[in-house]
Amino acid sequence: MASDEVQARRDAWYRDPYPLYERARRSEGLTYVPECGAWLVARDRDVREVLLRAEEFSSANSLLPDVALSEAALGVLPRGFGPRPTVVSSDGAAHRRHRAPLNRGMSAGRVAALAPYARRVARELVEGVATGGSAELVADYARRLPGLVVGRLIGLDPADVPAAVHGGYRAEELLFRPLPAAEQVAAAEDVVALQHLLDGYVRERRARPREDMCSQLVAALAPGDGELTLEQRHELVTSLQNLLIAGFLTTGALIGTTLMHLLGEEDRRQWRMLCAEPALIPAAVEEAARHDTAIQAFRRITTRPVTLAGTDLPAGAAVLVAYGAANRDGERHERPGEFDITRPVDRRHLAFGYGPHGCPGSRLAREQLRLTLELLTERLPGLRLDRDRPPPRMMPTLIHRSPEALYVTW
Ligand code: HEM
Repeated sequence: MASDEVQARRDAWYRDPYPLYERARRSEGLTYVPECGAWLVARDRDVREVLLRAEEFSSANSLLPDVALSEAALGVLPRGFGPRPTVVSSDGAAHRRHRAPLNRGMSAGRVAALAPYARRVARELVEGVATGGSAELVADYARRLPGLVVGRLIGLDPADVPAAVHGGYRAEELLFRPLPAAEQVAAAEDVVALQHLLDGYVRERRARPREDMCSQLVAALAPGDGELTLEQRHELVTSLQNLLIAGFLTTGALIGTTLMHLLGEEDRRQWRMLCAEPALIPAAVEEAARHDTAIQAFRRITTRPVTLAGTDLPAGAAVLVAYGAANRDGERHERPGEFDITRPVDRRHLAFGYGPHGCPGSRLAREQLRLTLELLTERLPGLRLDRDRPPPRMMPTLIHRSPEALYVTW
């Protein structure tokens, strides 16, 4: 486990990575970041290059955990399922096998079919918030909508969604936060519980397939209709867990961060603009995704000696591919540090990645932020940060950049 000092330095730059990005973009070549044990790739053109050269920059370590697990936590995990490679950590033909059902399951048509459900749930959540005189929007809204929506996509019973979402957040904490020993064991137990819940769905859908992503993943990854082998169940549960977490952690973060920026300005100028002119909402969605990117960075590992931005890397070198740094590259975006919803809609940012691993869920994520802004500006135009509370503080993470809490009043 990282020493306390290394952990403290890492947390500080995770909460505000932008000064380091700025230095890295200005420096020649790549910048080595000892806290992460990886070379930081920070310029837009270099990030694109890594993502396209997928044969040389493997995804095998894309989500390498930040912390080592205790023996006790490691003793709990074998009671669950996995780990196995998933879409996000595989390359080449193995990646295409995992990716095909996701492309089909999150096509434009599928997302359009899901939109009325997402709107209904979002409206109910907004009404729930509106009944009080104040709220904490991360817990009361941003962390709730995406779980219900991705749950519906996968085919989860809404009654199972809170437990599934809880297990997903615990999985992220277990692998990326330095928890005390007893907490690690408790988190590992929650992860195992999530995996057994998902295994129940996997076996049920094998027996009685439906029109949902769980059934599609079962059919694609374990063709046939015989009883699933234990190995197939391990792979399917790992893949479903990955899809679930990819679906809600990120989208919840984007919703929370966007509201924080809109409401955080001294005079709420851009919030008021959105209330007066809802036609600006699509541009606001794109600008929010670019300006304070929800997934700041994922890793890659070199498969052979390569040169990137003039830096020679040996085989087996870890790189940190910083979408969030590329999105503030002045060579690509004018006034890159400014959050400005009046920019013309420009989707050529890297918030949703690029190349073979580019996000298959970006449509669904954009749709949820769009309808959130539509409903909140219409229902609660007086929304403002609660100035009696401490100002929002960012979570110490690169994989779901979000305020820890967002206290509001109206
Ligand atoms: C604001 C919300 C989201 C952001 C910022 C985001 C961002 C990203 C990024 C940057 C990648 C590329 C990872 C890489 O290069 O290795 C990615 C991949 C992925 N995303 Fe998203 N995502 C979001 C929402 C979603 C949603 C809603 C889903 C599903 C319901 C989803 C499912 C996935 C999956 C399965 C992958 C792996 C694809 C692959 O490796 O081929 N994401 N996402």
